[in-house]
Amino acid sequence: MKILMVCLGNICRSPLAEGIMQHLAKENGLDWEVDSAGTGNWHVGQGPDHRSTRTAHNHGINISGQVCRLFRVSDFDTFDHIFVMDKNNLSDILAKARNKEDAKKVKLLLDDKIVPDPYYDDEQFEPVFKMIEEGCKETIKQLRPG
Ligand code: 4NP
Repeated sequence: MKILMVCLGNICRSPLAEGIMQHLAKENGLDWEVDSAGTGNWHVGQGPDHRSTRTAHNHGINISGQVCRLFRVSDFDTFDHIFVMDKNNLSDILAKARNKEDAKKVKLLLDDKIVPDPYYDDEQFEPVFKMIEEGCKETIKQLRPG
């Protein structure tokens, strides 16, 4: 299974989602490949925001080695599922879909709510971590074999 996590900047939410999903997949004995990307190019080549790195570290997850990159259309070919954090991400990625098959791969990580952008509020990183963790746990339940 190949999973891509997407947000706007690829420095706050989707790096957390990548790290959390990798961690949980490993814990569950699942050999899943997980990556992340952004729809905006401001931070390409940089590591995750230090607040995301610290929050992940507080939960025993190391995301410091990640490097920010842009979403690319070929990601539709590479990945089985593309999880986005909010509705802007959803419309930005769906706008790049070439056909129904591409579009079918794209879903909000949390079915019924968005993961808000924590960039301008330090206090949001811990709640965002918890929301993403909940989404990843639910995703594993739904996608794990057997
Ligand atoms: P993210 O947060 O989408 O969770 O990575 C953001 C990070 C940076 C910016 C926006 C959102 N920015 O505008 O630079």
